[in-house]
Amino acid sequence: MLELKNVSKRFNDQVILDNLSLTIADQKTLAIVGPSGAGKTTLLRIIAGLTPADAGEFLWNGQPTTPAHLRKDGVIGVVFQGFELFPNLTVLKNITLAPTLQGQGAAEAAKAARDLLDRLDLADQADAYPFSLSGGQKQRVAIARALALNPQILLYDEPTSALDPNLRQSVANLINRVKEQGMTQVVVTHDMGFAESVADTTFTVAKFGGDAQ
Ligand SMILES: Nc1ncnc2c1ncn2[C@@H]1O[C@H](COP(=O)(O)OP(=O)(O)OP(=O)(O)O)[C@@H](O)[C@H]1O
Ligand SMILES: [Mg+2]
Repeated sequence: MLELKNVSKRFNDQVILDNLSLTIADQKTLAIVGPSGAGKTTLLRIIAGLTPADAGEFLWNGQPTTPAHLRKDGVIGVVFQGFELFPNLTVLKNITLAPTLQGQGAAEAAKAARDLLDRLDLADQADAYPFSLSGGQKQRVAIARALALNPQILLYDEPTSALDPNLRQSVANLINRVKEQGMTQVVVTHDMGFAESVADTTFTVAKFGGDAQ
């Protein structure tokens, strides 16, 4: 369980998050919703340790921590809005690059990546390059790449926004499948219908802070 307490963030003189508190419960899916510009991506980047908060406390399983520590320990994985696949690497190499840089053997990393590709219905795309994939396939590769690092919490920023609307349901199914395998997930979305189809809990970020619902 990851708890955020009284997290605040401003950019220049603009208050983006004001004393925001929320709990990310184990093996549940939390949707973070709110209007454009409310600070959803900022909140996700703070949780991921990519943007520092100005103030606030973070508790990981009851112990004080910082997002930077969680990031260093590989607790958090992120699926970015634009997927951000490496265009010059095959699907398999996109997935194995980070684990091998972290010291995993090449053969072991490749086997784990092939298992993930199997689970995400991408087994036949292992040697393809990102340019040849559909949007939905790219997204599944991005999810496989994040899962390969065995995070305990997986964050998604607007997972449906780069996709054809008719792929919304398949993304929801995928997030629900990943949940059944025990993953804790946080999904940032402005799409309320999508949030309802994946979320156990919804947290609304309003201008100047948010309220749990
Ligand atoms: N690096 C930055 N420097 C200055 N201002 C920023 C920075 N990043 C975000 N902001 C501002 O913070 C506010 C919240 O931005 P954020 O991207 O978190 O919103 P969002 O809720 O994700 O919006 P959207 O739904 O459009 O993605 C906006 O006013 C934005 O302009
Ligand atoms: Mg955003």
